[in-house]
Amino acid sequence: MTQMAEYARWRNDPEGYWLDAANAISWLRRPIVACDHAAKPAARWFPDGITNACHNAVDRHVEAGFGAQAALVHVSAMTGSERTFTYAELQHEVAHVAGALRRLGVAAGDRVVIYMPMVPEAVFAMLACARLGAIHSVVFGGFAARELAVRIDDATPKVVLSASCGLEPGRVIDYHSLLDRALQLATHRPERCVILQRPQLQAPLVAERDLDWVEFLRDAAAAECVPMPSTAPLYILYTSGTTGKPKGVVRDTGGHLVALAWSMHNVYDVSPGETFWAASDIGWVVGHSYIVYGPLVQGCTTILYEGKPVGTPDAGAYWRIAEKYRVAALFTAPTAIRAIKRDDPDGQLMRDRDLSKLRTLFLAGERADPDTVRWAGERLGVPVIDHWWQTETGSPVVANCIGLGALPVKPGSPTRPVPGFTLEVHDGDGVVRKPNVQGALLLKMPLPPGCLPTLWNDDEGFERAYLRAHPGYYTTGDGGYVDAEGYVYVMGRIDDVINVAGHRLSTGELEQAIAGHAAVAECAVIGVADSLKGTVPVGLAVLKAGVTAARDVLAQEFVARVRDEVGAVASLQRCYIVTRLPKTRSGKVLRATMRAIADGRPYEVPATIEDPAVLDEIATALRG
Ligand code: COA
Ligand code: AMP
Repeated sequence: MTQMAEYARWRNDPEGYWLDAANAISWLRRPIVACDHAAKPAARWFPDGITNACHNAVDRHVEAGFGAQAALVHVSAMTGSERTFTYAELQHEVAHVAGALRRLGVAAGDRVVIYMPMVPEAVFAMLACARLGAIHSVVFGGFAARELAVRIDDATPKVVLSASCGLEPGRVIDYHSLLDRALQLATHRPERCVILQRPQLQAPLVAERDLDWVEFLRDAAAAECVPMPSTAPLYILYTSGTTGKPKGVVRDTGGHLVALAWSMHNVYDVSPGETFWAASDIGWVVGHSYIVYGPLVQGCTTILYEGKPVGTPDAGAYWRIAEKYRVAALFTAPTAIRAIKRDDPDGQLMRDRDLSKLRTLFLAGERADPDTVRWAGERLGVPVIDHWWQTETGSPVVANCIGLGALPVKPGSPTRPVPGFTLEVHDGDGVVRKPNVQGALLLKMPLPPGCLPTLWNDDEGFERAYLRAHPGYYTTGDGGYVDAEGYVYVMGRIDDVINVAGHRLSTGELEQAIAGHAAVAECAVIGVADSLKGTVPVGLAVLKAGVTAARDVLAQEFVARVRDEVGAVASLQRCYIVTRLPKTRSGKVLRATMRAIADGRPYEVPATIEDPAVLDEIATALRG
């Protein structure tokens, strides 16, 4: 069966197709109805199904006799430790964390925020929530206190699970202090915070509020899997939108499990018992789908890696792990490969390893530039598969479905739409039917199982952000085109979202941080091309009249504010002070023009510009 034939099979009977696919997971009540099209604000899949995500990821494999198989391998390049948990051990850990959560009063539907580094306990925590039907919301460790506070206020968790610290090269991140500060900033008060003390830093626990992880677990009973409606939220994952406020993407339970099982088989082509490694972070959607739920639902061994592609200790880190754990499929961001290529241009560290088990390298999170795809493919000797998706979709939208028989790779294209997705390119006049013409990439509603049904507590925001601009379609926020052979090319965001080293950020959020400085009258943040990170943010600020402080000192303070309020992960290194921002006569900041100037691309001076002379100053600032 080719991808095209499978796509046609889905088109022919979408509901039958997904009911069939639903057989890949275990149900306590198998759904008879595929989709509730009347649900608002969007269709819900398998509305009459009852299941449990943790049972599918853990217990059912133990029950089927695979308890002794490796489920989770934790590799920490930061501490030099490696530990494997079998499915039976994982079940034991998860059931007890669930029991301990239940003892704290956590029940189905309650929210639990997980602000933890890449340690096994973070995975236990996610699965323990799933076991109880509680809704987890994992917050990426690279975010600062304010970002954590915003998420705590939106998700209103009963409990926060955290750790004393995270480990980054050359520094220890004091998670507990960040949590303290976040709770000072937040209005919502969780009932308890549970802190995993790591040997690298002991957190001073706050009486009444904090509970040591060891105490939390002491004598906890094992909890069983709670039957959950298929449509119950499994988790909330906040992602950057075009406004300063992150969007709480809701993932339902049954549809997500079905979509993941389908993709593990058809996109990634991995079988139970094989090792699948997504070198990402549990704070991102890739971590949710393909470190935790996807590989475990499929009965694979998954790797949780605390470290970097380079520098911990070198550009051979991925290949050493891939060899040792016989990784069949590796998934990472193009940035990681660019970093490896920079440090080991000939791929010598790859050649030193036996990578005979590695069948495929998957790339996503940002545009995979053809040079990077070719470089990795030539050196690894395996297909390098770019695939495109988003936090909102939970699994790939456009991919070369290896499990359906690989299609020829065209570097620069993630290939063709995956069954379930009808992708169209639209310009100002509606659908573009000609090949190679750029426009907005839209997906026809209803979206398939696993895609977001709404935003947490914000149906109106969901409709506004994704549905209203093009009735009947979901707006992806990306632009691109389709060639004559149906291959999709994703050229990048056409809204105010930027991708920095595969991390999704909102320029609005960064602007808020700079604008909060007392000296700033107005500011803009744009994403400019970067050979390593794909895009990096650059700030431009206009000072209030009468500000006399030294400009270089102020610029440093603006950079520091972004780091302090959004987090180091924003990677804002440069902020320029200018006398004016280029704007249209109606007051719209001309970001695209500034981006073109910064990237050294040709640009036309927009006819609507208020004052063309301002561009000279911007060019001088941006091009140094
Ligand atoms: N907790 C705390 N801080 C974090 C963090 C975390 N989980 N993750 C990143 N940071 C910090 C880093 O320490 C760094 O701080 P610094 O400015 O003080 O050095 C900053 O955020 C930027 O981090 P990063 O984007 O990782 O850049 P880097 O220069 O440290 O490393 C790469 C460069 C290429 C190695 C790195 O970007 C990388 O591994 N990219 C792959 C991205 C990826 O896997 N994305 C997931 C999507 S699939
Ligand atoms: P996130 O929600 O963090 O996964 O980020 C999703 C965004 O990352 C998408 O909207 C794209 O802008 C970008 N992206 C992800 N994968 C790809 C890809 N393969 N090619 C181009 N852009 C991608």
